[in-house]
Amino acid sequence: MTSAVGDTTNRTPEETPEYDISRPARCPLDPAPSMRARQAEGPLTRIRLWDGTLAWLVTGWEQHREVLSDQRVSVDPFRPGAPKLSPGEAAMIDVLKKQGRTSVGTSFIMMDDPEHARLRRMATSAFTIKRVEALRPPTQRIVDDLIDKMLDGSKPADLVEAFALPVPSLVISDLLGVPYGDHDFFQSNSKTIINRETTGEERAAARQRLAEYLDGLLAEKLAHPAEDLLSGLAERIKAGELAREEATEMGVLMLFAGHETTANMITLGTLALLQHPDQFALLRDTEDPKLVASAVDELLRYLTITHGGLRRVALEDIEIAGQVIRAGEGIITVNETANRDPSVFPDPDRLDLTRDARRHVTFGYGIHQCLGQPLARMELQVAYPTLLRRIPTLALAADLEDIPFKHDGFIFGAYELPVTW
Ligand code: HEM
Repeated sequence: MTSAVGDTTNRTPEETPEYDISRPARCPLDPAPSMRARQAEGPLTRIRLWDGTLAWLVTGWEQHREVLSDQRVSVDPFRPGAPKLSPGEAAMIDVLKKQGRTSVGTSFIMMDDPEHARLRRMATSAFTIKRVEALRPPTQRIVDDLIDKMLDGSKPADLVEAFALPVPSLVISDLLGVPYGDHDFFQSNSKTIINRETTGEERAAARQRLAEYLDGLLAEKLAHPAEDLLSGLAERIKAGELAREEATEMGVLMLFAGHETTANMITLGTLALLQHPDQFALLRDTEDPKLVASAVDELLRYLTITHGGLRRVALEDIEIAGQVIRAGEGIITVNETANRDPSVFPDPDRLDLTRDARRHVTFGYGIHQCLGQPLARMELQVAYPTLLRRIPTLALAADLEDIPFKHDGFIFGAYELPVTW
C-alpha cells in the first residue's frame, strides 16, 4: 500500500486547496472531485477550511484507520485546533461556550476515553447481534406494512417519505421507547442539526429542543418503566450510575443517529440499484442471506453517506505516512476516498454486490466506530430485498438532475426520491 505523500506542506495558506465535499449534480453517488484530487496527491495532504485555518486531510484507507485508532487524537470539538467544518458549527460552539459549557453536551460521540467508554458501555447491550436479530421480524412487518401502503397509494410516490424515513424512525422509536407519533418533531430537529447552512443559534436551539423532549420521556420512564432502552437508562439513573443529563444526551444521540443515517442509505441504495439493473436483479432474485449481507456492505462502501469526513485534533505529535502531525493540528479523515482506495477495493468505482466490502469505513473505525451498525445492517438487509421483490418494476419517476440531493448536509442523501412502478 502506498505511503507516499504529495508534497503539499510547503504551500502557502492561499495556495492550499479548500476543503470542498460537493458532489456534482451529474454523478451524485461518487466522491467529490476535490476529494479525489487530494487523494491523487497522496494519502495525507493539507487543506484550507472555510475560516482560513489549515487542517490535515486523510484520504487513504490505511491512514484513515491509523488516525482513528490512535489514542493521541481527540474527537472533542471544544479543544483548540479542532477543525470546524462549517460556520454554523463554529457558531454553535461559541453559543455553548457563552452559556458556560465546556463541551457540546455529554454526548459520548464527542467525548474522549475514559468518559466516552464509560457512557458507551451503558448502551452497548441494546445493539448486540442477538438483540438486533430479535428485532428482525418486527422490522420485516414494518417494511411490509409500508410497502402495502405505498402500493395502495397513488403513483408516483416519494420513497423518502413513504418508506426510507419511516422504516428506521419506527425501528429506533420502538427500541428507545419514543412515541412514533412525535416523528415530525424529532425528524425536523435532526434535519436542522445536520444541515450545513444552519446558523449556530438554530443548531443550538434544535439540540436543546431534542434534549428537553428526551428529558421529559426519561421522567416518564423513571415513573413508569417499560421494556425499552430509555427505561434501561432510567434504571441506571436510579442506581446512581448515570447522571440525568448524560442519559438525556445519550437518548438524543441515538434517536438522531438511529434514523437519519439509515434513511439516507435506504434512499440512495435504492437509487444506486435502479441505476445498475444487473445488480438490482441479483439482489431481487437471491435467497442467499450471505449475498444480501455482502450487498448491504457494498452499498455502504459505494455510497459512503458519511461523506463529510470525521474530524479529530492531535493531542501529541504523531507520525502518519512519513509526515508529522503536530499537537494541536486538526485532522479530517475522508471516508468516501478511503472507501474508494484501489489498493483495498480493486476497481473501486464499480458497484459489485458480490465483492467482500466489509473493510469499508462508512461506520468509522476505532473507539467511536458506529454503535448502531448491527441495527443499521439488519434494517438494510430487510428493506432492500423486500422492496425489490415486492415492487420488481420499481423505477425512478424523475431525471437524476432533478432529484434534490443533500449537498448541504454532512450526511449525504436525498430530500425526495420520486418513484413509480
Ligand atoms: C447506515 C447507517 C449509519 C451510518 C453510516 C453511521 C455512521 C457512523 C459513524 C461514521 C460514526 C463514527 C463517528 C466518529 O467516529 O466520529 C457513528 C457513530 C455512532 N453511531 Fe452510527 N451510523 C449509522 C447508523 C446508526 C444507528 C442505526 C444508530 C443507532 C442508535 C447509530 C448510533 C451511533 C452512535 C451511538 C455512535 C457513537 C459511537 C461512539 O462515539 O462511540 N448509528 N455512526
